[in-house]
Amino acid sequence: MGTGLGQLSSEITDSYEFSYKDIPNFPVSTVEGHAGRLIFGKLGDKNIMAMEGRFHFYEGYSMKEVTFPVRVMYELGIKTLFVSNAAGGMNPEFKIGDLMIITDHINFFPEHPLHGPNFPTGPRFPDMHEAYDHNLIALADNIAKEKGIDIKHGIYTGVQGPTFETPAEYRMYNILGGDAVGMSTVPEVIVACHCGIKVFGISVITDLGGFDNPVKVSHEEVQEAANKAQPVMTAIMREMIKRS
Ligand code: HPA
Repeated sequence: MGTGLGQLSSEITDSYEFSYKDIPNFPVSTVEGHAGRLIFGKLGDKNIMAMEGRFHFYEGYSMKEVTFPVRVMYELGIKTLFVSNAAGGMNPEFKIGDLMIITDHINFFPEHPLHGPNFPTGPRFPDMHEAYDHNLIALADNIAKEKGIDIKHGIYTGVQGPTFETPAEYRMYNILGGDAVGMSTVPEVIVACHCGIKVFGISVITDLGGFDNPVKVSHEEVQEAANKAQPVMTAIMREMIKRS
């Protein structure tokens, strides 16, 4: 549960909760607005493992640490990963508060999570042609339609941060094919793919960059926009988990 999805944790029943700090080898989240708990329980009739708070490369963690929880998910038999994040919108048709189903990503992180000896969960050279599961995207579209939610599709550009982009950078990432830009998700999705875990991701567009009038962006604004979008994001994810 990245930015914009914290609310979902209150709906988990039959839960066991662990503070990240009490789990051997687990990193601890340092960013305001990201708690640090691993929750096991049920959502609807599905067994789930939820991460409340994730680890970002900009915090100083290695890529191995950032993606360690996904390795744990694999070992525990998790079949589908649902990810959320906050992102800056670069597609001129986007507005603040929009939800964007991630259809694909572009990896701009300076380090690769699969760098080093290959893990036996997947091949040395993993295929990435469907990193975000087509059936799950279709399911999300149906759910959004049923609920009258206007949902966008787009390509998520993953960058290291922690600076937000300069206007020129937003424009560049858009020219290169990105619709939104953010500082997470891509490493976890790569490792999930390498483990054969299906992925579905949504970004909440919390700010806009790259247009003619550059605007200032702050962490507080990002949090505020994400909180506003939270009920809709929660409704979609809840339904996705139920029906997938
Ligand atoms: N850029 C990078 N990361 C972000 C942004 C942004 O504009 N908004 C939220 N996370």
